[in-house]
Amino acid sequence: MNEKIKKILIKKNKKKIVCLTAYSKSIAKILDKHVDIILVGDSMASVLYGQKNTHQISMENIIQHTLSVKKGITKCLLVADMPKDSYKNKKQAEKNAKLLLKKTGCDAVKLESNAKNYKIFETLVKKNIPVMGHIGYTPQFKKKFKIHGQTISEITRLLKEAKLIEKTGAFSIVLECLSPASAKVITNQLKIPTIGIGSSLNCDGQILVTDDMLGLSGFYPKFVKKFANLDRIIEKAVKKYTREVKFKKFPKTNNFLHGTKFRK
Ligand code: KIV
Repeated sequence: MNEKIKKILIKKNKKKIVCLTAYSKSIAKILDKHVDIILVGDSMASVLYGQKNTHQISMENIIQHTLSVKKGITKCLLVADMPKDSYKNKKQAEKNAKLLLKKTGCDAVKLESNAKNYKIFETLVKKNIPVMGHIGYTPQFKKKFKIHGQTISEITRLLKEAKLIEKTGAFSIVLECLSPASAKVITNQLKIPTIGIGSSLNCDGQILVTDDMLGLSGFYPKFVKKFANLDRIIEKAVKKYTREVKFKKFPKTNNFLHGTKFRK
């Protein structure tokens, strides 16, 4: 088993697993020093490409951004999202997951569950491809953004789904928008770590979309905590730059090239 995955697994019931998304080398380089897992998520659809859902993200998009992220990391576990329609059947899933691993050097892939595609998960695991699952609000399959697991029967259904994913050999599972009660039951009953997003403290780890927690995406569901307001910081810098260009304060002599020297 991949050493990085082993390190994640032993954290269960001991230490919280810290995860964030990244789509580029520059952000990944900052995250790598602090977090356990970086996910190149198909959330890039709205965050980077202004799309209304994740459905148009292609293998090519994920490959390009994972390649960039890979260049910025030295220690984190790197997980790449499999785009919608890239794992519709076993053969296609295997081909695309192998392509992602081979072309980008990522450590694992993430697949959303539709409570029917367990065989796909199993096929990948059998081919030694580490798989992270994803249940609850799964944007590739569900339109409605809502809390999952609010009744006993829903909790039972979600627990069954999580257990079946664990049984396929997946090494961890994202719980998106689950009620605290269902996150607790699933986290307690599974041997593999659960990574929550909007699913309370009752998970083994947490993930957020980095642009959301930095205040850059303009999309802030209730569960997102803004740890910074980078939008304001960037705007302040852009305003300053604009002023300086307009009033001929920039560039000064040390901001343009003289003679043959490129660097200071
Ligand atoms: O695409 C993504 O960023 C995700 C996380 C929100 C879990 O799937």
